[in-house]
Amino acid sequence: MNAMVKEPVAAADFVSAMGLAATGVSVVTTDGPMGRFGLTVSAVSSVSAEPPLVLVCINRKSPAIAALDGNGAFAVNLLAAHNRAYAETFSGRPKEGNPFDFANHDWMMGETGLPLVTEATAAFECETFQSHDAGTHRIYVGRVIAAHRGDAEPLVYCNRAYRRITSHEGNDR
Ligand SMILES: Cc1cc2nc3c(=O)[nH]c(=O)nc-3n(C[C@H](O)[C@H](O)[C@H](O)COP(=O)(O)O)c2cc1C
Repeated sequence: MNAMVKEPVAAADFVSAMGLAATGVSVVTTDGPMGRFGLTVSAVSSVSAEPPLVLVCINRKSPAIAALDGNGAFAVNLLAAHNRAYAETFSGRPKEGNPFDFANHDWMMGETGLPLVTEATAAFECETFQSHDAGTHRIYVGRVIAAHRGDAEPLVYCNRAYRRITSHEGNDR
């Protein structure tokens, strides 16, 4: 690995290196006065348990921004391995049907009225607590109103490919 250098890092080098981060895959959904929208994201993090806060980072060029800002509420759906088709539709690259189209998939209505992915690994219904612009993206911090836990294995993304978790050798206790 190269030592730290003072030159600014080229965006392509940053993206290439960060692409090796293994992440879960979520679909952020929103609904309300600005309409329904969904977007596949890997930039999701837990922030705080008391109060319960999560964050998502969304490109400011995405049409999701107007919907998220206007609706003031969103759900983070952590996809299960068998939910891969949702990830493809809401990143604009569906194998079947139209990009970003809710009609191709099954949804449950959350406690707050937000659309939740059926059989997701977990889902968090949030009201927008704060938003901050950072570079090309907007960080939305959501206060979690309802948290749902499923029992399916999560979908993982790493090095530009969808993957499944396998247990590490020596994990047996
Ligand atoms: C696995 C995966 C993770 C992604 N993570 C994010 C993310 O965290 N934030 C974001 O704004 N877009 C993310 N995207 C991109 C959006 O889902 C979507 O593909 C993009 O906004 C579509 O715009 P384009 O057609 O201009 O590429 C991700 C896409 C994929 C496939």
